[in-house]
Amino acid sequence: MTRHFLGLSDAGGDALAAMLNDAIDRKAGRIGQPKGKPDADAPLAGHTLAMIFEKNSTRTRVSFDMAIRQLGGSSIIMEAGSMQLGRGETVADTARVLSRMVDAIMIRTDDHAKIEELARYADVPVINGLTDLSHPCQIVADLLTVVERGFALPGLQVAWLGDGNNVANSLIEAAGLMKFTLRIAGPLGYEPDADFVAAARRAGGEVVLTQDPEEAVRGAQVVVTDTWVSMGQPGGDVHIAAMQPYQVDGVLMAKADPKAVFLHCLPAHREEEVTSEVIDGPQSAIWDEAENRIHAQKSVLLWALGRL
Ligand code: CP
Ligand code: NVA
Repeated sequence: MTRHFLGLSDAGGDALAAMLNDAIDRKAGRIGQPKGKPDADAPLAGHTLAMIFEKNSTRTRVSFDMAIRQLGGSSIIMEAGSMQLGRGETVADTARVLSRMVDAIMIRTDDHAKIEELARYADVPVINGLTDLSHPCQIVADLLTVVERGFALPGLQVAWLGDGNNVANSLIEAAGLMKFTLRIAGPLGYEPDADFVAAARRAGGEVVLTQDPEEAVRGAQVVVTDTWVSMGQPGGDVHIAAMQPYQVDGVLMAKADPKAVFLHCLPAHREEEVTSEVIDGPQSAIWDEAENRIHAQKSVLLWALGRL
């Protein structure tokens, strides 16, 4: 069976834990090495990853490219607008052709139905590099960042502030798989996807939705936020005004656990969803989090290609 990674549940809790362990080991094993040097075992030597971007990206693009290099493979990066896909070739035909040419496909797109269609017609693994619905690779990196700071995932207290977006949905999925508590504070009308919330609760994660930012952060060991307006969202003054109470500033951060870490997938809009005081402050783990995209995605690639 082809292992697609459209969401964290495609792997499940056990595989996710294995990915985190593998990422920690591989990260430790290459300290001091040049960033482009393959790991000694080069487990994906000869493998090629095709990447399709229908939206902007810095981290996902560079981290997947470096991840496949470190695993001994190589990548091809394509903007959808310069592909025949951008002129109307179908997603299904694109999937069939790329499956004959490369070993795995990563796509960043808008409508989640598109990645599902790509996976339906691809014979090689399809990996979600962000859709309007979810961003699972980001959450593997976030969990890695939390675990390497000494936190255990079961029972962890996590707070999400602001827009109930794609990153929030994947964090909710992780709460169910890894059994942590996630309190999400945001304005009415900007809640995360109800199906993700229901599925995580069924799986045993405690997911609390509130409009009170203090309720979300009280006792939280991890405080997470993201842009108030995601790529492709209309945004506007009403949207931005609704988000103001959820800004993560020093006062709000002080209400979390004193040892709490601050995460943000980036790019950040300083003085909007987070103040510079917090994002540049001692509790911020954002640069480790960004670097961990490489280490996390190496494990995602290894899992998708049956090596984990
Ligand atoms: N966090 C993240 O996915 O960043 P990019 O949009 O730069 O890829
Ligand atoms: N929620 C953001 C994440 C960017 C990495 C967006 O979709 O624009």
